[in-house]
Amino acid sequence: MVGDNGAGKSTIVKMLSGVVKPDGGQLFWQGKSFHPSGPDAVRDAGIETMFQDLALVNDVDAPGNLFMGQEPMKRWLGFLPILDRKKMRLETERLLDQIKIKLQSVDRPVRLMSGGQRQAIAIARILLSAKAQLMIMDEPTAALGIQEQSKVLNVIRNLHAQGLSILVISHNLEHVFPSPTVSWLYRAVVSRPAWPQMKSASRMSSN
Ligand SMILES: Nc1ncnc2c1ncn2[C@@H]1O[C@H](COP(=O)(O)OP(=O)(O)OP(=O)(O)O)[C@@H](O)[C@H]1O
Ligand SMILES: [Mg+2]
Repeated sequence: MVGDNGAGKSTIVKMLSGVVKPDGGQLFWQGKSFHPSGPDAVRDAGIETMFQDLALVNDVDAPGNLFMGQEPMKRWLGFLPILDRKKMRLETERLLDQIKIKLQSVDRPVRLMSGGQRQAIAIARILLSAKAQLMIMDEPTAALGIQEQSKVLNVIRNLHAQGLSILVISHNLEHVFPSPTVSWLYRAVVSRPAWPQMKSASRMSSN
């Protein structure tokens, strides 16, 4: 989905993820009318969202951010429940490996990490949900350098190849062009222009 600043892209994302209730209109998910009661209901339905601000907790490390609110526990001495840090760490490394992103250490607070590394943690957090069928990413490349952008775009392509549906929000027509469908958002009105129009718009934007 493409659109200018303030067109309403993030607002639509918040509606799709159950954070904001629409004033009007209808949501459909997998062919059925969808009335989520809130973000948990949306996640239960298999829709995961990466918000524009990434929604990470800066002073917490990567495993802590990934498992926030769903921390695995184990029993110490057979009865005392404690956090299973080892499992959190191994799972974090496995997910980052799956998206081919390397961190020197997963144990540092995320505020010490680069934009691309933080982005990777936000993506890995979505992958943690076994139920995910649709992944919504609001401006996943906006704050990144060219090299990091192409890494994140590769991650998106890989995930799509693994069968996940992905809705990417972007300003950048070149980033959305490989996708099968593009919706164009202009002053909160969604349209689906024909491909030749899109391509000429892309040429204009890169000129
Ligand atoms: N909580 C809010 N209350 C009132 N107006 C808001 C609120 N959040 C956003 N808006 C307004 O709604 C419009 C759409 O904002 P939105 O954040 O959805 O745009 P966007 O397409 O995501 O823009 P960008 O490309 O800059 O991220 C803007 O005019 C914005 O000022
Ligand atoms: Mg936005």
